[in-house]
Parts: sequence; C-alpha cells; structure tokens
Amino acid sequence: MSKILEKLLVAPNMYELVIDSPRIAAKARPGQFIVVMADERGERIPLTIADFDPSQGTITIVLMVVGTSSAKLSRLNVGNSLHALIGPLGHPSEVGSMGMVVMVAGGVGTAPVYPIARAFHQAGSRVVTVQGARSKELLFWTDRLASVSDEHMITTDDGTAGRKGLVTEPLVELLQRDARKEIERVYAIGPAVMMKCCAQATRPFGVKTIVSLNPIMIDGTGMCGGCRVEVGGQTRFTCVDGPEFDGHRVDWDLLLSRQKIYHEQEACSLKQWTEELERTR
Ligand SMILES: Cc1cc2nc3c(=O)[nH]c(=O)nc-3n(C[C@H](O)[C@H](O)[C@H](O)COP(=O)(O)OP(=O)(O)OC[C@H]3O[C@@H](n4cnc5c(N)ncnc54)[C@H](O)[C@@H]3O)c2cc1C
Ligand code: FES
Repeated sequence: MSKILEKLLVAPNMYELVIDSPRIAAKARPGQFIVVMADERGERIPLTIADFDPSQGTITIVLMVVGTSSAKLSRLNVGNSLHALIGPLGHPSEVGSMGMVVMVAGGVGTAPVYPIARAFHQAGSRVVTVQGARSKELLFWTDRLASVSDEHMITTDDGTAGRKGLVTEPLVELLQRDARKEIERVYAIGPAVMMKCCAQATRPFGVKTIVSLNPIMIDGTGMCGGCRVEVGGQTRFTCVDGPEFDGHRVDWDLLLSRQKIYHEQEACSLKQWTEELERTR
C-alpha cells in the first residue's frame, strides 16, 4: 500500500508521483490534500491531491523540493512505499455550474488548480486559466491545464514563455473586460504572496476570490493549532476549516509571518540531513 507507481521530473526540483492508494482515490475530491511521511523519522507534510483515479486506485501529487521532508520524499523511487499516508483531508472545493470562473495558478499551484478547473469545466462553466511561473522551465502540466480550459494564458516573470509579467496583469485585464459581469468566481492558488496580490487585485471588482492556504501543518486533523490562520477576524484551522477560504477576508500578513517562524530550524534540519547523507555515501 502507498507504493509509488510512477515518478516523473516535471520541472527542476518538481516531481509528479503516482501513488497506489485505492481508499483515498475512491473518496478524493478536488481541493483536498493528504499528509505524508517519507520515513519513520520524518515529519508529516501536507500535499494536494492533484489528480485521482478511482478505477486504477491511484492518486497523483506534484512535489516541489524546498526542505528536508520534501527532499526525503523526492529520493523515493518507483517501487518504494511511503512510510505513512492519510487522507483525503480538508473540505473539497465548492464546484458548480457558473458563468465564468478564472483560475490563477502560480508555480506548484498548478497542481491544486488542475482538478478544480477540470471539475468546473465538467460542470459546464466557462473556465479561463492563467498559469504563471518564474521561468519557462518551471512550467508543468500546461497541456493538461489547457485541456480543461476554454481559454488558457501563460505568464513568466522573465518572458521566456507566454506573456512577460505577473499573473495579476491578465487577471485585472479579464476583470476590466468583463462588461457583462460573467466572472462569478476567481480561484488563486500558489505562493501566499501571489494569492495575496490576486485577492488585492480582485477586491475593487467585488468578485468572490477563493484561495487555498498553505500554512505550516503538523497533525493535519485539527488538534495541534499549527495551521491556524485568521479569516474575517476569526481564528480558523486550515486543515479542518479549509484549505480554501475567501481571499478578501484572510489576514495575509499574519500568514506570511507565521510561514517564516521556523526558517532557522528548517535550514539547520536540511544541513544536518545533507551532512548525514554525505557521511553514509
Ligand atoms: C494544504 C496544503 C497543500 C500543499 N500542497 C502542496 C503540493 O501539492 N505540492 C508541494 O510541493 N507543496 C505543497 N504544500 C507545501 C508543502 O507541504 C511544504 O512545501 C512542505 O511541508 C515543506 O516541507 P520541507 O521539510 O521540505 O521544507 P521545510 O524545511 O519545512 O520548509 C521550507 C519552506 O517551506 C515552508 N513550509 C514548511 N512546512 C510547511 C508546511 N507544512 N506547509 C506549507 N509550507 C511549509 C516553509 O515556510 C519554508 O519556507 C502544501 C501545503 C499545504 C498546507
Ligand atoms: S495542522 Fe494541526 S490543527 Fe491543523
């Protein structure tokens, strides 16, 4: 169980993993996530279920390597099993038939956006996707995202693919162009700062903007309080109350500062683990 069936490098430091998990595949819905442990000494980390296939009993995740736990996971190969895997966790996305939905994906945020965009597309909504990355080489699943979009745009910070600039530029243009007020919802998923900017961009237009928050999580089941965020002046636990929230009500500065609180320990952990690896080589 939880065996890795496929592993693909989709961009530098980003891996797509297909995992054997019939129980989770049968229940998963767009917007949900899993918590995994790479090995018995590892920490639990949350990852979005980027795709699921109940008939094959598989789930797909896209992992960006940023520190010790993601690096440990990225070293597992086809045939290896995860030490632990729980899910599906979190509330599924509220999907229905809407006039038009604009889905903004930043970096690894393409992974969580894909199943939500597909669900809106299947429900009969007009789906416009804006996919952004720092550079062309960091874009992945562009064909997949385009296949569930009525319109698909790409932006890169350095202009190596699509339009040069940030995802907020086409987003604002779409909103300005929307004379018939067809855009019923904007989804923005990616780094917290990108989601914050998208929420700021949509606020003057009054279009409901959903974001999927990525605070530090520990248990993923509502018991530790590690993932707490403030939404509309109230404390909410991302793992059980989210991960999706109204982007106009999130206290972004608090989220951004809480994401940084363990930077020193994270750097120390990565250094220790890398040294341990070198010693055992
Ligand atoms: C609901 C949810 C879904 C997510 N889905 C994905 C996904 O599909 N693909 C993906 O690559 N990443 C995803 N993440 C982020 C992923 O969990 C973190 O990148 C991972 O936990 C980092 O662990 P690490 O030990 O490798 O890095 P660390 O050394 O712990 O940290 C490196 C950096 O990642 C940030 N970080 C650390 N722990 C977490 C955490 N538990 N959650 C969020 N950020 C963290 C830190 O602020 C730091 O900047 C998701 C996070 C959440 C909350
Ligand atoms: S991760 Fe512990 S309460 Fe959410």
